[in-house]
Amino acid sequence: MDTVNNMSQATTYPADNTTSSTTGARLVFSNIRKSFSDTVSVEADSLIIESGSLTVLLGRSGCGKTTLLNLAAGLDFPDQGSVSYDNQILQGPAPSTTLIFQTRNLFPWMTAEENVAFPLRNQGMAKTEALEHARQYLKQVGLESFAGHKPAQLSGGMRQRIALARTIATKPRLLLLDEPFSALDMQTRRMMQRYLLDVWKNSGVTILMITHDLHEALMLADRIALMASSPTGHIADILDIKLERPRDPEDPAFRTVQQQLDRFLEHETLLAEHDPTLESANQQA
Ligand SMILES: Nc1ncnc2c1ncn2[C@@H]1O[C@H](COP(=O)(O)OP(=O)(O)OP(=O)(O)O)[C@@H](O)[C@H]1O
Ligand SMILES: [Mg+2]
Repeated sequence: MDTVNNMSQATTYPADNTTSSTTGARLVFSNIRKSFSDTVSVEADSLIIESGSLTVLLGRSGCGKTTLLNLAAGLDFPDQGSVSYDNQILQGPAPSTTLIFQTRNLFPWMTAEENVAFPLRNQGMAKTEALEHARQYLKQVGLESFAGHKPAQLSGGMRQRIALARTIATKPRLLLLDEPFSALDMQTRRMMQRYLLDVWKNSGVTILMITHDLHEALMLADRIALMASSPTGHIADILDIKLERPRDPEDPAFRTVQQQLDRFLEHETLLAEHDPTLESANQQA
């Protein structure tokens, strides 16, 4: 079933002809200000996401992480400032971009292989070939034997693996991930992290990812943008994570950065407890 072995066989990307490298998109957030009703949700004076980088957004609940991701996807627009994608200001959905949420990423009426084949069919690939490709991507996430199952017959972790396989099949230039692994059990989560790293290293895609998990952030990121929520959501600091890969959580340098991040989040939580304007975020946290 949804086993460790299945996934450990799967972390061989890109061992077949379903993969190829791309040039990741470069994103620039300039003087962004985005408000909802009368409250300012998020500001970002200058955040540059370099082509092929893996940036993690970290911050407490309600500080504006998803808002920034939606702006990057071109699904929402700032009230002031701009988001540029390869030097072009976004005025609609970002090209060659996929956004993966925490849950509900699949079409429930389609089988696993039909879900993965769907974007390939949309790109004009013939049905038989698209399904053949889909099975190869399912194999990479250890789920080839579930190709004919519908999402309702699969666990949350399996569904998320299929969503990632479908995303990778489209060879995006920008991958936006909003807490994609938070519903997974620890072992599946670690394997998905390894799979994501393999995809990132071998494809050149630019990744912008939200997580609340410090361990996950440090295992993956080459940069971490720390978001603070007071007085309004903003980028408080950007850390370059220069730890050697593969990363070792037992490495004292890893622990030092982890403690630094921990202190930042603790400080944020303390601030929020004493700031009535962050009450709604407190309730969400
Ligand atoms: N469509 C919307 N309408 C009104 N307010 C919104 C909307 N989207 C976000 N907000 C508000 O903007 C703030 C930031 O929300 P956002 O979802 O970006 O936070 P987040 O950092 O992703 O939080 P979490 O970690 O809980 O997912 C919150 O106060 C939220 O209530
Ligand atoms: Mg969010």
